[in-house]
Amino acid sequence: MPAKEYGVFLPIGNGGWMVSTTAPHPAATYAYNRQVALDAEAAGLDFIMTMAKWKGFGGTTDHWGETLESMTMMSALAECTERVKIWATMHANMHHPAVAAKMYTTLQQISGGRAGMNIVNGSYADEFSQMGLWQDMPKEDRYRMTAEWCEAVTRLWTEDRVTMESDFFTLVDAESRPHPDPRPTIINAGASTLGMEFQARYADGAFLGADSFEEMVEKSAYVHRRAGELGRECRTYSMMTVVLADTDDAARAKVAEYGRGVDREALLNMSLAWGVPLDRARAWAEGATGEEAFQVQYVAGSPATVTESILRLVEDADLDGLMLIFPDYHADLPEFGRRVLPELRAADLARTAPTADPHPIPTTSEESPAHV
Ligand SMILES: Cc1cc2nc3c(=O)[nH]c(=O)nc-3n(C[C@H](O)[C@H](O)[C@H](O)COP(=O)(O)O)c2cc1C
Repeated sequence: MPAKEYGVFLPIGNGGWMVSTTAPHPAATYAYNRQVALDAEAAGLDFIMTMAKWKGFGGTTDHWGETLESMTMMSALAECTERVKIWATMHANMHHPAVAAKMYTTLQQISGGRAGMNIVNGSYADEFSQMGLWQDMPKEDRYRMTAEWCEAVTRLWTEDRVTMESDFFTLVDAESRPHPDPRPTIINAGASTLGMEFQARYADGAFLGADSFEEMVEKSAYVHRRAGELGRECRTYSMMTVVLADTDDAARAKVAEYGRGVDREALLNMSLAWGVPLDRARAWAEGATGEEAFQVQYVAGSPATVTESILRLVEDADLDGLMLIFPDYHADLPEFGRRVLPELRAADLARTAPTADPHPIPTTSEESPAHV
């Protein structure tokens, strides 16, 4: 089996993934993200990825009130890195496939073959109604639109002239040369059954969302199996925030401190944006504990604890990789590169060796649904 991949989710929105007044607050600037990309490459990580986000969530933290644009930033980061894969996000509902095809071909040239396309289907109304672009449609139709979009893009990447009349897109003898070589990696982060079907059919990599470890195990197995049935391969990934300190106690103290300032107003707005009804969203936000300041599953501990937890998740859920988030990227990522990543690589080597021992089950891991 191929090696596990580890990457970093760049903080393209202010605050990164911590929704708290007492957590570090990464700036949504090119300078901040550029340094993270350089640190990721120096640490030996495999990929960097950015989301595409068009509206923030307010609150005291003004969470994601400031965001940069994914393609533009990743193009520049492709130029200033040499090795990490460059995964940029595009909305199928915003960009015509002919525009997207050429943008990723360009990114593929700039990056020397490291480009990846995270394709998302634009399901959050507020982001698009502010532009007059919101189309209210059932999830089935949204994924059908994204599938047609993906087919159009991949045809434009490989055929000199494309004519296609589908429900959502029209191409008339359309040209898009040069063709990218190799074809950019296709990524998708859908969490639903429809999302996983899309991943199995079209994506090379799937970011899975799950409410529990058991669900993650099932979803990873499902996507691997379903892609196999379709004669394809689709690698599976999850994401995790890492709170690293010299000792478990020190890491737990950081978690408590980050949680102390949980921004309930931003959480309420975020929950509403994800489509949760007002009464439920309000009840959840008002009752939010420090845990909710972390938008995604996190692990807190010493390098040994963090290593064990990551290995448990990645190996037991049979994931092909993990995307990492850090509260304070500039301080935490280099530390992770020195004290955790070498252990993960060593475990991967041992795992693929014929006599590898099973890894011990760790105790520290939190699972929660991931929305971006
Ligand atoms: C790692 C990751 C990255 C994502 N990036 C974006 C993004 O940049 N923009 C966006 O609108 N949605 C993004 N999403 C949301 C997903 O595209 C998707 O809408 C969500 O997981 C719900 O899946 P579903 O539509 O299958 O229910 C991301 C999700 C994950 C887990």
